[in-house]
Amino acid sequence: KTVTYDFNVTWVAANPDGLYERKVVGINGQWPLPVIEVDKGDQLVVNMYNGLGDKTSSIHFHGMFQNGTNDMDGPSMVTQCPIPPGSSFTYNFTVNQNGTYWYHCHTENCYPDGYRQALIVHDKDAPFANDYEEEFTVTMSDWYHTLTEDIAPSYMSLYNPTGAEPIPNSFLFNDTLNVSIPVKPNTTYLLRLINIAAFVSQYFYIEDHTFKIVEIDGVYTEPTEADTLYIAVAQRYSILVTTKNTTDQNFPIVTVADTVLLDTIPSDLKLNNTNWLEYSKSAPYPQADIQVAQAQDLVPFDDITLVPSDGMPLLPEPDIQINVTVIMQNLMNGYNYAFLNNITYTAPKVPTLYTVLSSGNLATNSEIYGEFTHPVVLNHNDVVEIILNNNDTGTHPFHLHGHNFQVLDRQPPVGPNFYSNLNGGNPVNYDSSNHTTFPSVPARRDTFVLPPYGYFVIRFVADNPGVWFFHCHIDWHLAAGLGMLFIEAPTQLQERLSIPEDHYQACRAAGVPYEGN
Ligand code: C2O
Repeated sequence: KTVTYDFNVTWVAANPDGLYERKVVGINGQWPLPVIEVDKGDQLVVNMYNGLGDKTSSIHFHGMFQNGTNDMDGPSMVTQCPIPPGSSFTYNFTVNQNGTYWYHCHTENCYPDGYRQALIVHDKDAPFANDYEEEFTVTMSDWYHTLTEDIAPSYMSLYNPTGAEPIPNSFLFNDTLNVSIPVKPNTTYLLRLINIAAFVSQYFYIEDHTFKIVEIDGVYTEPTEADTLYIAVAQRYSILVTTKNTTDQNFPIVTVADTVLLDTIPSDLKLNNTNWLEYSKSAPYPQADIQVAQAQDLVPFDDITLVPSDGMPLLPEPDIQINVTVIMQNLMNGYNYAFLNNITYTAPKVPTLYTVLSSGNLATNSEIYGEFTHPVVLNHNDVVEIILNNNDTGTHPFHLHGHNFQVLDRQPPVGPNFYSNLNGGNPVNYDSSNHTTFPSVPARRDTFVLPPYGYFVIRFVADNPGVWFFHCHIDWHLAAGLGMLFIEAPTQLQERLSIPEDHYQACRAAGVPYEGN
């Protein structure tokens, strides 16, 4: 079936933390934004009208592979022109995946202004479909009282030599605070957890309860018991929670901000957020958040140990190995701050996808895309391995568009919490001679955390012709250039992709020098 959403995007007012009313990006006059819900196999159509007046825009459907529809992926100047105020753009693609996703604006720093929400693909054939009674979607997010356009420049400026990221004003749960999830005793529920934040990772636990992880980033996993999760921005977990045989008490659902990411912690910033597994409205609500541990004392579940239920084995030795190193350094020019192998990703004048389509035989030559986009051309069906080393003290959740990837290795924890140690102040780079075995059925996901001063190794197959962004999902870091492009199977892409006329109209309206082909 076809599921159609008409999105009239305008500024509206909202006060989700009860502390401050500000303008946010609304859809059809509303905020929080509508959750997109589809079934596998549906055709999803989103007609977007940009009524913001003063801002360009675009939508990315995070985690959707867009196989055959690269032009519907959404990142501005990668696969489309930014949609100018007063213009429309239609996203139209087949949903061939299951699970928990989200959508967000993908034009400069636009999604932290509230332009992000869950996208759920329902699946009555999921391996756990008969194991729960009811499902709830839970988003968590940092929240700023200031418009991103007023924060981003100071982040990049010479007054911020250490590159300290903007500190949020609060942390939301389902775009508000103090949420109650009503439950019955002795019953199992599916919770879909999504971190839709700009910056800060969250620890998640339910006081006195364990749960089973059954999905990460759209990949079903063998049900795996856990009690504490670390959910970086853009990551998703589905968990099955079975309630106790009691109605005497309600139990806190706690999120704790990862303070390792925050350069300063204002005294009025509430780091813990308590919501409720509500067994009974008349039972007590014990205030657990005052005794919550510091983020660095929590011991999160290690996602690298999860096993996908489809049993997909470790990919063979790579045809191409890509070594990249993260460096963050403020060059005090108000622009350059993030580097992958000494390149700051800088948007081209024409969306890279359109350059592929109009360049004929030259499309396989990475030089035509400009060094500043950090392009790597991949051959169709190559096995690709990325080794990412972090020579920075920051945590970087990296996301690959168009794919999920196998997670082969990550720098092992020095202590129990692999996200909070800094290796004694020295970067540890990946050394393949020390690592010969990888999991035989590796975890797969589309966003994976590069720990401070550590590394990770991932693999995927270049079976999806397209231009795909690979970037840190911390929105401040992306704006600073912490990204690169994969130009995947450009010849096959030229053969199969045709772009609807309204996509080129956005370019003309935006004044981008591209007329279509
Ligand atoms: Cu949700 Cu380019 O990412």
